[in-house]
Amino acid sequence: MKMKITETVLRDAEQSLMATRMPISDFEGILDRMDQAGYYSIECWGGATFDACLRYLNEDPWERLRIIKKHMKKTKLQMLLRGQNLLGYHHYSDDTVRRFVRAAVENGMDIIRIFDALNDLRNIQTAVDACLEAGGHAQGTICYTISPIHNLEMYVSLAKEIEKMGCQSLCVKDMAGILSPKECFELVRELKRAVDLPIFVHTHATTGLGPMTYLKAAEAGADGIDTATACFSGGTSQPATEAMVYALSQMNYDCGVNTKILKEVNDYFEPVQKKFLENGTFDPYVLSTKTDALVYQIPGGMLSNLVAQLKAQNAIDRLDAVLEETPRVREDLGYPPLVTPMSQMVGVQATVNVLMGARYQNIGKEIKAYIRGEYGKAPGKINQELADKVLQGESVLTGRYAETLAPEFEDAKAALGNRARSDLDVLSYIVFPQQAEEYFEQRELKRALKVSYAIEEVQEG
Ligand code: CO
Repeated sequence: MKMKITETVLRDAEQSLMATRMPISDFEGILDRMDQAGYYSIECWGGATFDACLRYLNEDPWERLRIIKKHMKKTKLQMLLRGQNLLGYHHYSDDTVRRFVRAAVENGMDIIRIFDALNDLRNIQTAVDACLEAGGHAQGTICYTISPIHNLEMYVSLAKEIEKMGCQSLCVKDMAGILSPKECFELVRELKRAVDLPIFVHTHATTGLGPMTYLKAAEAGADGIDTATACFSGGTSQPATEAMVYALSQMNYDCGVNTKILKEVNDYFEPVQKKFLENGTFDPYVLSTKTDALVYQIPGGMLSNLVAQLKAQNAIDRLDAVLEETPRVREDLGYPPLVTPMSQMVGVQATVNVLMGARYQNIGKEIKAYIRGEYGKAPGKINQELADKVLQGESVLTGRYAETLAPEFEDAKAALGNRARSDLDVLSYIVFPQQAEEYFEQRELKRALKVSYAIEEVQEG
C-alpha cells in the first residue's frame, strides 16, 4: 500500500504557526535536499504566502515561486488557491482568475488545490478550467465542517461534482482539526466508493485528533496526507511528517520517502524555528493542544484572531460571550464552513454583536455582501429576519457573482503604467493593490541604491 506525503513546512505549517513570516533566505539552502526526500509534493505557495511576501517580507511572490521551482527537479510543487478569491479576500473577475492561474502554472506550480469557502463549486470552476488548460493538476477541495446540514451525502455529491469538473484529485480539507478519526474513516470510505479520484486528507494537529485521523484515513484508503517536518509540526500546524511516516511504515504503507533526508530537513529547520521562537514571531502557545474547537467548532487561527481583536478593544473579558455568539452567527448565516474569508467575517460579526450589546445593530459590509449572494450560495438557510434587514426588498443574487464583474487586467495595467515591470506585477497589484504598490516602491529604491553604489564603485576605480 502506498501513502503520498505532502510536506507543508513552506506554506501551511509556517502560516499556521507564525503567520507566514519566513523569508526565502531561511529555506532556500535546503530545497535541493527536500527535492531528494521523496515527498509526493511540497506545498510552498498560495494561502497567505503571496500576501505576506508583499506585505511583510519585501519579496516578489512570483520570484519566490521560480526560485523554489529551480531547485525542484522531481518533486511537485503545490499551492492552495481560494477559487474565485485567488489569494485575496474578495472575488476577482474571470479574466484575472484565468491569468493568475495560468501564470502560477507557467512559473512552476504543478498542483493547485482549489477550494471555495462555501463549497459552492461554481466559484472554483474558472480556476479549475484555467489550471487544466495550462497543463496543471487541479485538485478539487471539499471544506470539511460540522453542522446540522453538513453530512456524508452532501460531501459525496460535492465529490462527484468535482470529478465531473475534470479535477485530477480530491482533497478533504479540515482547516480546524475537527475531523475525527471515525468520521474521517467513513468519509474517505464513502468518497472512495463514489469517485475514482485519488483522495488527499488535510488536517491540523490543533485539537490533538490529527495523527489518529490520518491513520484512519489510511485505513479507509486515502491516497495522501499533508504533514510538516517535526520542528514545524503540531499545534495549529500539521502532524509531524516523521511520526506519520514511522507509524504508517510499520503498518506496511510505503510513503516513498527517505527518512535520513527527512532528518536532514528537520535539522536544517531547527535553527530557523529557534530564531523565530527567540524573536517572538513563533509563540509556543500555538503548539499546545486545544480542544475548544471540538466544543466551539471554530478553527485555531480564528480563535487567536478573536483573542487579538478583543485584546485590542480592551475587552478580553468578553471572550466567552464571543465564543458563544460565534456559532449563533454561523447558524444565522446558514452554516458556512469557517475558513478564510468566512471565518474572519463570522468572527468579526460575533465580536461586534457582543461588544455593541445588541445583535446585528451594526452589520459588516462583507456579511451584507454574503447575504446578497455575492460570495456564492449559502450552504443552509439564512435567518429570515437578518436577510430581510440586509436585503430590504432587494433580491438575492442567484447567479455567479464573478459574472457581474468587468475584466480587470487592462485597467490595472494602465493604472500601474511603468511601475509594473511585467504582467505578473499587474496580477500582484490586482490581488493586493496597496501591498503591491508599496513593494514596487521598495524595489525601485533598492534598484536606485544599487545603481548609486555601482556609480561610486566606478568612480573609486
Ligand atoms: Co490548512
